Amino acid sequence: MSDSTVEPRQPAPAVAAPTALVELSSVRKVFDDLIAIDGISFQVTDNEFVSIVGPSGCGKSTLLRMLAGLIAPSSGAIRLRGRPLQGPARDVGMVFQSPVLLPWRTALENVLFVAEMRGERRRTYRSRALDLLRLAGLAGFENRMPYELSGGMQQRVAICRALLLNPSIILMDEPFGALDIITRERMGFELQNIWSASRSTVLFVTHSITEAALLSDRILVMSARPGRLVEVVRVDLPRPRERRTLSSPRFVEIAAHVSETIAGGWVE
Ligand SMILES: Nc1ncnc2c1ncn2[C@@H]1O[C@H](COP(=O)(O)OP(=O)(O)OP(=O)(O)O)[C@@H](O)[C@H]1O
Ligand SMILES: [Mg+2]
Repeated sequence: MSDSTVEPRQPAPAVAAPTALVELSSVRKVFDDLIAIDGISFQVTDNEFVSIVGPSGCGKSTLLRMLAGLIAPSSGAIRLRGRPLQGPARDVGMVFQSPVLLPWRTALENVLFVAEMRGERRRTYRSRALDLLRLAGLAGFENRMPYELSGGMQQRVAICRALLLNPSIILMDEPFGALDIITRERMGFELQNIWSASRSTVLFVTHSITEAALLSDRILVMSARPGRLVEVVRVDLPRPRERRTLSSPRFVEIAAHVSETIAGGWVE
């Protein structure tokens, strides 16, 4: 964009700065005598796509489980829209490495399950569930049972389920970890489409630097145990990201930088 197209700067409105969607301050997690996470602070704003990368055992899943309200930090604070997080929040959706669908329910009924869990009427959410399944490329498979779906399709059902109640934030822990490389790549692009259409905020744990660089606005790089934040890498690539993004010089540069940062943080 050339400078001439930039709007003249408006005076700042007389309101407080917007609260971060998620804010972690000096979060530490200790399991017995093992310090899993130490002194982690960061903020995530609305509609951001943030990846978390780091060596195995550095505390990525622990961090996500704390953000989901499934376990509490040993010290420090986690705030969701400025309020301390106390237990699982309705506003937070979670996708695990394996899809964990109920085998006796159809794809649509699996997506609607979260509404039932929250005591909501299924009817209210039926059309949204169908929309999400369509968006995820599953039109025509709504009434299929999980065993009739491929692994990638099951994971897309799990993603739709996490999005059903329109959570402000969706936490994903290695969601494509069990998929083959080709399906995994396709799922990355599909996730980008779902994310941009649903205007959600994603916190995404991955072992794949390529996946992190392709999808993210920012990448949080963690060090080996105890997990600390070593660097936050901003990914300034234009959107939507496409297959050819993977061969752009800037993409290659960012991926190489993240890889070097992880290697530098691998201190046991
Ligand atoms: N419930 C628990 N009780 C005791 N120790 C735990 C528990 N959960 C995790 N840990 C320990 O905390 C550390 C971080 O584990 P975590 O699962 O968060 O790592 P990770 O970064 O997700 O690893 P990976 O990339 O292999 O999935 C590990 O040393 C692990 O042994
Ligand atoms: Mg993990």
